Amino acid sequence: MISQMLLDARRYEEDRGGRIVAQDRPAFHLTARTGWMNDPNGFCYYQGKYHLFYQYYPYLSRWNSMHWGHAVSRDLLHWEYLPAAMAPDRYYDQDGVFSGSAQELPDGRLLLMYTGVRRENQLSGIPREVQTQCLAIGNGRDFEKYEANPVLTENALPANGSRFDFRDPKVFRRPDGLYCCVAANRVLHRGAETDGSNILLFTSQDCLHWKFEKILCTNDGRFGRMWECPDFFPLDGRQVLMVSPQDMLPQGLEYHSGNGTLCLIGDYDDQTFEFTPAHDQSIDYGIDFYAPQTVLTPDGRRIMIGWLQNWDACAIREPEAPWAGQMSLPRELSIRDGRLYQTPTREFDLLRRDRVEHRGVEVTRDRMYLEGVSGRMVDMEIRVRPKDPARSYTKFVARFAENGDTYTSLRFRPSESTLKIDRKFSGSRRAILHQRRCLVENGSEELRLRIILDRYSCEVFIDGGRKVMSSALYTDLSADRISFRADGDVVMDIVKYDVVM
Ligand code: FRU
Repeated sequence: MISQMLLDARRYEEDRGGRIVAQDRPAFHLTARTGWMNDPNGFCYYQGKYHLFYQYYPYLSRWNSMHWGHAVSRDLLHWEYLPAAMAPDRYYDQDGVFSGSAQELPDGRLLLMYTGVRRENQLSGIPREVQTQCLAIGNGRDFEKYEANPVLTENALPANGSRFDFRDPKVFRRPDGLYCCVAANRVLHRGAETDGSNILLFTSQDCLHWKFEKILCTNDGRFGRMWECPDFFPLDGRQVLMVSPQDMLPQGLEYHSGNGTLCLIGDYDDQTFEFTPAHDQSIDYGIDFYAPQTVLTPDGRRIMIGWLQNWDACAIREPEAPWAGQMSLPRELSIRDGRLYQTPTREFDLLRRDRVEHRGVEVTRDRMYLEGVSGRMVDMEIRVRPKDPARSYTKFVARFAENGDTYTSLRFRPSESTLKIDRKFSGSRRAILHQRRCLVENGSEELRLRIILDRYSCEVFIDGGRKVMSSALYTDLSADRISFRADGDVVMDIVKYDVVM
């Protein structure tokens, strides 16, 4: 039975979503059908299509009582909206259907596992949100909440687990058929909340009845406080744990403050459930990226999509906007030299048209514009090097989404080997985060960037995807110029395409 609350949401989104003209949205990044979007949820390949659900509040472009929005795609770039999948319409999830994941069942139905949130008055008089894990099962469009919900409650937690911060189940199936699920949980000490968090592992024979198996990983205080949105998967012979920590402190240029992303790469024994991390890194070094989730494609590629937004920078979007929040590009993951690499998918490459190429451009001190190089739906690869290999330069700057005093810039300084993204002049009227820097390891040699612009974002893949910087920008679309300048003698090669849907 579809609840009245879900029917209302479906009616509302169909009406309002239909009024948003396509040109007012990104072309190849998914946005909410109408209103607010945060985390990707339930990312899966099911019956010939990719399904992507998302944290959703249709009625306002602000976070509020969470629903699950829903869209499907054959290439992760052209999206078609389906009706909202879930509303907070049950006692145990009345204050939000929070993030979760999807798993196809042997009988062909699709199971969603999510966090149900319910506010409960405490003895102190202050209400707190209790979080449990719940299921909904359906045909890929309509889902029925499971009658025995919630399936994981505080009773399943280890002794030091908080029932107030227990969320974001990511389910997967082991090759031998055992269902596993990882979820984030705040650590208590003598009953009091701490800054620590655990990633818990649960197992199930049938995907319905779950039991606690092991603390898979503990945040030992190095990476922020509460971890959110875990994902856990094998990749190139290693095992990757991705989490999104809240309240991070920067460590040099490796992590930035606030809500960040992190991956731990290591080894995993899936019989003893022993995970041994060997390496850690940020997943994205830009301004806006959070809560990524991955899917395995039918041909075995591990593809990741994140929320292209930072919680601390949400005010960049005006509350009257018809939609707020967008997803990142789908990115293919791989491990090289022990690090996580990300590259745009080959499906994305098929959208490239009208190749423009300039080789050996001597970049001038005054801003220069190149024939055929402009636009807001663009894929461009640039290679930058000193003209004389023996003499470095001071800086190289590319500006895009530019129109007079409005622009976003990328600035590279070889002496520090840092690349900075700066959207201070992108048209934002808010005093929020507008810059990030990241270290480019091979900065002494050639700087290689692939910059992908959609109408309201840029994603910069550095050194073949060794690092990525992502940022939302809400610059007026009339700002579509791209320029370059340098202090010192710099030579640049550029290949640029328009992205055509
Ligand atoms: C992460 C998050 C999740 C939670 C959801 C609520 O961005 O805080 O932990 O499930 O958003 O919308």
